[in-house]
Amino acid sequence: MDLQGRDFLKLLDFSGEEIMYLLDLAAELKEKKKKGIPVDTLRGKNVALIFEKTSTRTRCAFEVAAHDLGMGSTYLDPSSSQIGKKESIADTAKVLAGMFEGIEYRGYGQDIVEELAKYSKVPVWNGLTNEFHPTQMLADALTIREHFGYLKGIKLTYMGDARYNTGNSLMVLCAKLGMHFTACTSAKYFPDGELVKLCGELAALSGGSITLTEDVEVGTKGADVISTDVWVSMGEPDEIWAERIADLKEYQVNKRVMDNAGPQAVFMHCLPAFHDLKTKIGAEVGKKFGITEMEVTDEVFSSGQSLVFEEAENRMHTIKAVMAATLGWDHGTSGR
Ligand code: CP
Ligand code: NVA
Repeated sequence: MDLQGRDFLKLLDFSGEEIMYLLDLAAELKEKKKKGIPVDTLRGKNVALIFEKTSTRTRCAFEVAAHDLGMGSTYLDPSSSQIGKKESIADTAKVLAGMFEGIEYRGYGQDIVEELAKYSKVPVWNGLTNEFHPTQMLADALTIREHFGYLKGIKLTYMGDARYNTGNSLMVLCAKLGMHFTACTSAKYFPDGELVKLCGELAALSGGSITLTEDVEVGTKGADVISTDVWVSMGEPDEIWAERIADLKEYQVNKRVMDNAGPQAVFMHCLPAFHDLKTKIGAEVGKKFGITEMEVTDEVFSSGQSLVFEEAENRMHTIKAVMAATLGWDHGTSGR
């Protein structure tokens, strides 16, 4: 499998075999890291990390992974670069590609990261757009495989806002890898019809399936994985909170949902999560709407069924695999 020179913009661009290769590579790099075996065959290379939205996990994962691989990294924060303000995406791509061997981009429309890649002669990696969050998917898949031992046939139910980056991407992941995806939410938050159609066709080929339902009992029964995400995503206006809470409160992941899924079920969330009032926004929203938890209860978040912190750690190992594979880590001096 040779992914050298490829962009990583969305999972739709990759075959199931290529995704599995990245997962196997991530597992190998994780094992080496745990054993203290360095894999720094990308020494001398540098990556640019553009963040037009804030981040904890994705930024840290890219930085640590780059440094582990022997590379330097430059972080461009949401306010301090010229991108989009004084300099076009095309010009930015050409400038950065002249100095760096790879470029990560987190921001708004998928069209922006696609344009960056079009004009960049080095690989571009999507660190989250409104539509897709592909590096998160590799971490989720690795975490599920570590827990259950396999992916094909896994039943994954996503609750909440299923028409945004995480919901869309989980649907694509399942369709590519022969997993059974259910979006369990109000019909208003079902993923885009065209994407559902495409994923249905992919699922038919991989042995997976795509289901959309508003019925919580039916949608969560027997699920292996119950997943959710924030009800209001980065870049959406604060005014939307009231509507989202009203629309989605029925689709909160709570003990009733986990019990309905069954004892085999695990809980996953890309994080950050609103499971208590210990954050500024959580406290503000909680006070305004008289609630203490949103998309997931603290009871489920903190339970033994929750894999959220394993999932967060796997962001680093999987992002390392994406950079290693697309930059050709084993084509040079690797001792692999
Ligand atoms: N899950 C995720 O992308 O987290 P960050 O926003 O902290 O990067
Ligand atoms: N849907 C969330 C994901 C955060 C990692 C957002 O876009 O804010």
